[in-house]
Order: sequence, then C-alpha cells, then structure tokens
Amino acid sequence: MLKEKIGGDIDLVNLKLNPKPDLNAYATVIIGGSIHAGSVQSAVKNFCQEHMSMLLQKQLGLYLCCMEEGDKAQKQFEEAYPKELRQQALASGCLGGEFDFKRMNFMEKFVIKNFIKVKESVSKINHQTIDEFAEKMKIK
Ligand SMILES: Cc1cc2nc3c(=O)[nH]c(=O)nc-3n(C[C@H](O)[C@H](O)[C@H](O)COP(=O)(O)O)c2cc1C
Repeated sequence: MLKEKIGGDIDLVNLKLNPKPDLNAYATVIIGGSIHAGSVQSAVKNFCQEHMSMLLQKQLGLYLCCMEEGDKAQKQFEEAYPKELRQQALASGCLGGEFDFKRMNFMEKFVIKNFIKVKESVSKINHQTIDEFAEKMKIK
C-alpha cells in the first residue's frame, strides 16, 4: 500500500530473503515490521543495528504493523527501533494490523484463540495513518 501511495521508483526488499541489501543505491529507506508476541522480527532489529550509520544518512521512514493501539502500540514501536533512528525518521508510527486466520499457522491460531481470545479474522488497518505516512515520505 505504501509503495502505491508514495509512487515513483521504489524497490521492495524482504529482509528474511535478502538481509543485506545494498543501501548505497538509495536516498530514502523505509523500514517496516510487525509485532508478534511483543517483539518485532529479529531480521528488522538486526538490519537496523548493522546499518545504523548508513541509515542515519538517509531520508528515513519507520513503521510497525500491530494490533495494539495507543500507549501500548507506541511502547512496542519504541522497543522495535533504536532511538537514533526514531529521531532521524521523517515519518514513523504504527499503521494498524490484522488477525487473518487464513494466513496463520497452527501455532499462531492457537495463541490468538486461546491467549488473545480472538476467534475470527479482524482488520484494524489504519488507512488514514498510512496516507499521512505516505504523504510525509513523498520525495520533495
Ligand atoms: C502469533 C501472533 C502474535 C501477535 N502478538 C502481538 C503483540 O504482542 N502485540 C500486538 O500489538 N500485535 C500482535 N499481533 C498482531 C500482529 O502484529 C498483526 O496481526 C500484524 O498485522 C501481523 O503482520 P504480519 O502478518 O505481516 O506479521 C500478533 C499476531 C500474531 C499472529
């Protein structure tokens, strides 16, 4: 969605498949991850740590997908991304998320049904926040 809304020449990189993309080619980098059991993916954390100095020279965007809202979402965001990068970011925030049972494995379904007590798919994608994020990231 962000790629479409921002427009222009944008490459999508899956850090699980390509953990060390060449950042030299880019003036702008947007990093995104999602929260599972309180934490962002380790591929996202590692990427931020390993490329910190280079990321500090980019036009940077940072986002999270998660189901928590308000202060809890903010806390998850602050734990997901280092302070230096959060301060550098042109756009940052939690863009919502969804529990989609069709995409969950057995263990995930078990956790969501029995611990979170959600029994069917629910979407909390925050389209307004995504629009605002995209607007801030549009190349000036
Ligand atoms: C097993 C599991 C654990 C989750 N734990 C959290 C959590 O601790 N906090 C939260 O805000 N959202 C949590 N979520 C919600 C996800 O962040 C949300 O579903 C997000 O859209 C997942 O994006 P992804 O499918 O790209 O990983 C959890 C979802 C799953 C499936």
